[in-house]
Formats: sequence, C-alpha cells, structure tokens
Amino acid sequence: MCGIFAYLNFGVSRERRYILQVLFNGLRRLEYRGYDSAGISIDDCLLSCASTSSSSSSSPSPLVFRQEGNIESLVKSVYEDVAATELNLEESFTVHAGIAHTRWATHGEPAPRNSHPQTSGAGNEFLVVHNGVITNYEVLKETLVRHGFTFESETDTEVIPKFAKFVFDKANEAEGDQPVTFSQVVLEVMKYLEGAYALIFKSKHYPNELIACKRGSPLLLGVKELNEDASNGSTLHDSKFLSMNGQPKELFLSSDANAIVEHTKKVLVVEDGEVLHIKEGGVSILKFDNAKGRHGAARSTPSSVQRALSILEMEVEQINKGNYEHYMQKEIHEQPESLTTTMRGRLIRGGSCKAKSVLLGGLKDHLKTIRRSRRIVFIGCGTSYNAALAARPILEELSGIPVSMEVASDLLDRQGPIYREDTAVFVSQSGETADTLNALEYASENGALCVGITNTVGSAIARHTHCGVHINAGAEIGVASTKAYTSQIVVMAMLALAIGGDTISNQARREAIIDGLYDLPNKVREVLKLDAEMKELANLLIAEQSLLVFGRGYNYATALEGALKVKEVALMHSEGILAGEMKHGPLALVDENLPIVVIATRDACFSKQQSVIQQLHARKGRLIVMCSKGDAASVCPGNSCRVIEVPIVEDCLQPVINVVPLQLLAYHLTVLRGYNVDQPRNLAKSVTTL
Ligand code: UD1
Ligand code: BG6
Repeated sequence: MCGIFAYLNFGVSRERRYILQVLFNGLRRLEYRGYDSAGISIDDCLLSCASTSSSSSSSPSPLVFRQEGNIESLVKSVYEDVAATELNLEESFTVHAGIAHTRWATHGEPAPRNSHPQTSGAGNEFLVVHNGVITNYEVLKETLVRHGFTFESETDTEVIPKFAKFVFDKANEAEGDQPVTFSQVVLEVMKYLEGAYALIFKSKHYPNELIACKRGSPLLLGVKELNEDASNGSTLHDSKFLSMNGQPKELFLSSDANAIVEHTKKVLVVEDGEVLHIKEGGVSILKFDNAKGRHGAARSTPSSVQRALSILEMEVEQINKGNYEHYMQKEIHEQPESLTTTMRGRLIRGGSCKAKSVLLGGLKDHLKTIRRSRRIVFIGCGTSYNAALAARPILEELSGIPVSMEVASDLLDRQGPIYREDTAVFVSQSGETADTLNALEYASENGALCVGITNTVGSAIARHTHCGVHINAGAEIGVASTKAYTSQIVVMAMLALAIGGDTISNQARREAIIDGLYDLPNKVREVLKLDAEMKELANLLIAEQSLLVFGRGYNYATALEGALKVKEVALMHSEGILAGEMKHGPLALVDENLPIVVIATRDACFSKQQSVIQQLHARKGRLIVMCSKGDAASVCPGNSCRVIEVPIVEDCLQPVINVVPLQLLAYHLTVLRGYNVDQPRNLAKSVTTL
C-alpha cells in the first residue's frame, strides 16, 4: 500500500518550483498510506516542455528523484540535487506532467533503487508509479531478462516500465505501422499484468502526456478548470468536459481524495479496467469490457467510454491538523462531531403515537433479506474487526440471528463456509483492505448477501457490496484508527436497531438505545475531559515493557482495541484479554510490576468484573480500573488501585465511551516515549497487499 500522485498543468504557466511544491504537497497528503521512501519525476528543460506534440525521440529524459525515508527527506534531497545541478526552479512550463509516489515497502527494503518511479532503464523512457501488487511479476521478469533487460530493484513494479519499453520498441520495429500511441503501449502492458494496481505512466517518448489505469487499487482524477468561460459552458455532469482539449486546466491523479480536495472538488472516480489518457488538455477513457476479478489480467479489447465528474463531499479543513499537534489527537478529540455526523438524518424521534426508530437509507430495501438470513457474519481486520466485535452482542440481542465473527485473512486461509442464506457484513474504514476485499469476493461467489460498512464513498468495498452504510466519520488520517472505530460501532448499533423487530417487548430497550445515541456525543465530550488524567497515567507507564487490558461482554472489544492502540503507536507490548479467560493462563503473568487495566463499567458483567479485580488484587496485581462514575469506592476498596471514572451510557454504547481514555492513553504514551504518533513504525493506514 502506497500513495500515487500526479500533477499536469495545461495551458497555464507554472514554474518548476511550483510544480515541485504541488507534487510534494500531494505526497504529504498521502504520506499516511506509506512513508518509508518516496520519489518524483519532473521534466528536465524547456526543450520538451515548450512542445505539446507527442512525438519526440529527441526529448530530454525526464528527471527522477528517489529517496529513502519520509517525504521531508525526499524534499530535502531534491532541493540539494537541484542546487548541485543548477536546475532552474524559476523555469516556466505551460504544459508539464509530473508524477510522485510514497511507499510502504513490500518487495525489497526501503532504498532509492526500490522507490518509485520505477524506470525502464537508462534514459527513463518509461516511468511508473504504482500502488498495489503485481502477482505474476516473476514470470514477466524472466521473460524480460531473456530479452536482455537488466533489473536494478527487488520490486514487482519494475517489470511494468520495462515491459512498456519492450512493447514500444517492438511496435516501432514493425514496418509500415502508424507510430504507436502511449495508450496503445499501456493497454498492451495491462493485458499481461495480474494482481491489484493503480498505475500512472510518464514517458520520454510522450512528453506532457500521462496514462493512468487501475484494477483493484483506488484512483481518482481531479479536474480544475482555469478558464471561466469554459467552465460556464460545461456542466458538472457533462462527460464531454473531460475530452475538451485545448482549455487551460490543471489535472490531478491521486490514490485518494485527500491530495485533491485542496485543488478542486470535481473528481472522476476511476473504475477497474479503465485507462485514462491525458493529452493536450483532454482526457480520453478506454475500458476493458470484461474487467476481470481483482487478480485476473485484462484480455478483452478496450472500448472508449464517457464518464461524468462528481463532487467531493469533503472540506479542506478535514485534512488539516487545525490547532492540534497530531492527526491522531485531532481525530480523538473530534469524536463528538464525527459521531453526530454519523447519526445525522438516521435517527427518527418518533411522534405522539410513533416509536423512535432508525433509518439507514442504504439498507432499507434489503432489511427483509437480512432478517431472513440464517446467520450474520462480520468480517474485517484490525480495528474494524474490533468494532464489529463490540457491536455483536446488541445485534444478536435485537435480531435474534446468530452472529459470527471472522478476521478476513483467517476466513480465507480456512476457506470457511459461507452460504447463500448468510448475510456477510464487511467492515472497513478505508474500504480497500486487501484481505477484506478478497473475503468479499469469496463471500459474493458463495452467494451471500454482502453488506459494506465503510468510511470511504466510492471505495472498492462500497462498490462491490450489494448494499451498505457509509459511516460518514470524515477523513481519518492518523494511521491508528480512532474516530472511525467509534462511528463504526454506532453504525452497527443502528444496524441492530434497523434489523431488530419493533415489538412491544423490546420497545423500551430500543428507545433507551436511541435516546442513548442522541446523547452519545455529549457523553464523549465529557469523557474527553480525562485527557490530562490520561497524560498523567501515561507518564507513570512511560518506561513499562508491557500492558494488559481485561474486558468482557460489550467491552471485550474495548480491551482488544485499547491494547491494539497502545501496541500500534506507543510500540509497547500490550494484550487485550477476555476476562473470563483470566484463570486459564493470563493469571500467571500477574505480579506487582505488570500494569493491568480492568474495564469494569456497569453492565450485566459488572459483578463478574468485581470478582476479577479481587482475584488480581489478591495476587498483588498493579491495577488500573475503568469504572462508571461514582463506582470508584466499590471497585477499588481502600484506594488499592488507580481508577478511571467514565460516564455511564446504555450498555451497548458503553464501548464508545470506554475506548476514549484508552485512545488518549495510547496517544500520550507515544508522544512521551518520543515516537511518531501518526505514522507508527512499519504500519500503514490501509493494507492493500496480502
Ligand atoms: C445517501 C447519500 C447522502 C444523502 C442521503 C440522503 C451518498 C454516498 N449518500 O445517504 O449523501 O444525504 O442519501 O437521502 O450518496 N453502499 C454500499 N456499500 C457500502 C456502503 C454503501 O453498497 O459499503 C450503498 C448503499 O446501499 C446506498 C449507497 O451506497 O445505496 C449510499 O449509502 P449511504 O451513504 O450509507 O446512504 P444514505 O445514508 O442513505
Ligand atoms: C491497518 C490499519 O492495519 O488496517 C488499521 O493500520 C486498520 O488501523 C486495519 O484497522 C483495517 O483497515 P480498514 O481500512 O479495513 O478498516
């Protein structure tokens, strides 16, 4: 999983310095997708740049800069190289195509040779930035080696530009043919690529043109019109706009909307099998008709398609840190607002004789089918799995349907049974996690009704599920998921209300949950006031090696998620433990040194948790107890432990409240230990490779 970005200005003069800034800023916005190395390619000099023609064997080679480390390391090295070569930063280009990449290493260590753009070889005849994975790269590499190509990287990507050069050279050797076009070269290459990818090509042979294509991995085109007259004449949904050659414009290609929204809100969400050819200010789109599954290569003949632009429902403020130091901190603190947005328009207050209820627009036509399911299967990874686990009890209670849990990779490893009578619910913040997507393909093939719960409109999960719910939590940029987690739980609680029958016997319970949902943002605001207390606790735990978190019932998920947060960002070993399993192993770890968080807020499991506390206490456990407001004395007699008191809410919503102090603890521990909060070591926001 990586981030790809491109910037093409047409008919408007832009200095090299400005072009570099746009590319670097694009990468900064995508850095959360991968941050162990980065690279860009820009044009060398005016010789190529003054021309908009597509034939130029004499064009100078594009420049490539690649660097290990984060984006700022790349920025520094580019400016150092520029100074050393006396490349003119003030040189202006009326048309220019630049490409950029931020990497999360999968094939080969982080190093300049493994960074992108990957090249066809000396002269940079073809350059490629890639997000995804080419599964058949070894076969392609063997073939290319047999044809005399030498490889310098360990990446799967390097076969792509080399293959493009191979196709280009072959086509030009053939006598009597028209010169091969850039899109013909890429279409031929695509026929042989298997796996998941979003690609942007730049070539010395096709100056000022770009080709973008995708299968499986996300890709957006942003369009910024610079000529008022032209924009007045073209409506947003006028697909012809895309092919309006000659009008001044700026075009942006990106793995996600974060890098586009500051420039324009007009976007085209590129679909699988599509190839975009940007040339002379126009965009033509070709599509392989039988776009295969995520892994098959495209074998059909492509045809030209027309697509409409859409508007991004996103504000620039969402992707800025505002007054916060880190994205994770901002995202923890904006949960009252994100939860409000998640619920907006979906809770119905009821009237004098009408019960309170929920309306999930995306599911209303499918509720009957879901209610008839033999079972509901939640499928996800990481935090999204934990969110589903938190919602499982209320879904079982209100629907009466058995709910099973599946970690996506494990379901696939086992090829676990999925039936036509199942409803499979795919939970994913990004909507592009490879394991979850593969599980979706698997469940879909087995005939299950596939429901998505995602934060990303237009994502692969949103598009490939039969129906679903967007959690509308707003852009989440910190790699450790926080606000998406709480919004996912709320959506799944609403899902339980929507599926569960509205009977007299459960009416009071349903109304209590709906009232609880209305009041939840206020309660989250209240629990956020523990910030300073959690910082103080983090100070006490700063040098610890390990932390255990015990929970059960609704809050087993909270224990897993709290421990995951600490592990992910504070780089401290941390384990979430089902308290009911305490005596079957974990008790052996208990001594006076190991810190243990016990979640013992009021619910049906409260007395059992009291007993857990007593047993841990009897073994001199170093306890930190999370309890409901006013319960400190009863959970912790004689001040024998540290207490975190949280507001009480309806039991099924309590995980939303209880996770917040643990998010804050993980955040402060990380900052105090001096680690990178938003970009934890070795992790990335969405794992698009297996
Ligand atoms: C929709 C609109 C929202 C508008 C509201 C007003 C979108 C994205 N949402 O929200 O802007 O204010 O109507 O009525 O346009 N879906 C999937 N899989 C998923 C997620 C969603 O198939 O993983 C489908 C849903 O089944 C639905 C569509 O996407 O058909 C939109 O879902 P959602 O945004 O949750 O629907 P609404 O809340 O009704
Ligand atoms: C990665 C992220 O591991 O993927 C986690 O670092 C996330 O934060 C997990 O929970 C699943 O991602 P998604 O997008 O499917 O919810």
